[in-house]
Amino acid sequence: MVELARFATLAANGHNTQPWKFRLDGATVSILPDLSRRTQVVDPDDHHLYVSLGCAAENLLIAANSTGRSTELSFEDGPQTRIDISLGNGPVRDLALQQAIPLRQSTRSEYDGQPISASEIKLLKAAAQQEGVSVLIFTEASDRDAILDLVVEANSAQMDDPAFVAELRNWIRMTPKQALETQDGLFAACTGNPVVPAWIANPMFGMFFQKDSENDKYRTQIRSSAGVAVFVGDAEDPEHWVKVGRSFQRFALQSTALGIRNAHINQPIEVAGVRSEFSRWLGMTDARPDLVVRFGRAPALPMSLRRPVADLMI
Ligand SMILES: Cc1cc2nc3c(=O)[nH]c(=O)nc-3n(C[C@H](O)[C@H](O)[C@H](O)COP(=O)(O)O)c2cc1C
Repeated sequence: MVELARFATLAANGHNTQPWKFRLDGATVSILPDLSRRTQVVDPDDHHLYVSLGCAAENLLIAANSTGRSTELSFEDGPQTRIDISLGNGPVRDLALQQAIPLRQSTRSEYDGQPISASEIKLLKAAAQQEGVSVLIFTEASDRDAILDLVVEANSAQMDDPAFVAELRNWIRMTPKQALETQDGLFAACTGNPVVPAWIANPMFGMFFQKDSENDKYRTQIRSSAGVAVFVGDAEDPEHWVKVGRSFQRFALQSTALGIRNAHINQPIEVAGVRSEFSRWLGMTDARPDLVVRFGRAPALPMSLRRPVADLMI
């Protein structure tokens, strides 16, 4: 069961904050939020935190199913927020997805500009299918450009917001030493940025992290992608955010199994004003788009680190 929890920790999660703790009780594994790891500026309503818990839960379910265990998930909101996963005996399934768990990564680089076949897109959609969540896939250049404009608009707003930049910087690990000390956060090498000695790391952050160059990077990266997937929950509440995380994690694992990379471009759903513009563009004015993810093919980048699972048990 500890090993199942370790598989859960390999999930995608906002800023690699790893906002989770685990409790083992008989045949039940519980995933609890670690509220000390909130990112209040980018995620004021804990949306990303709950999505991250959903990603972790899906990894745990897949790892359990792949070793012949049945699983039943229940979500408890409120002061006792937690996801309980009860284990029993069941058929062995989801082996291909389980094998993709340690290989999945966010690949924030330029992709090869080639399309993904219709049959692969169908597999991605099927994997992401989750009650309470819609997954929209855009592969037309005109749609990608429209999403790109919203990414640039929202990214510009974030880069102009000192509180956003300060919070992000707090989670960036410029040097291998910093990354190894904390085993969390966004290590420069995993974001395709240069790894440099500590004495130039700090001045370099300000030099490289500029609005115009970041926007140019997103233009190149999005135009090099085969498509963009948008995840939309049926309702705007923690239970659905967990479902969105589960859907995304399966999408990412199925992508990995097919040799397809992905990276989040969530700026349009993080800036409230742009989010409503994005809902209108989607023709879903009553819904809240939850995640925006580009996909395509590219070589792997270094993997991001995780804290040891033993430190996360309560
Ligand atoms: C809810 C959520 C929001 C995220 N938002 C972004 C984002 O806006 N930009 C980005 O580059 N990565 C984003 N990520 C990816 C995380 O930064 C990434 O999962 C984490 O750093 C761990 O790295 P890994 O996915 O390579 O294991 C997000 C992930 C989740 C689950």
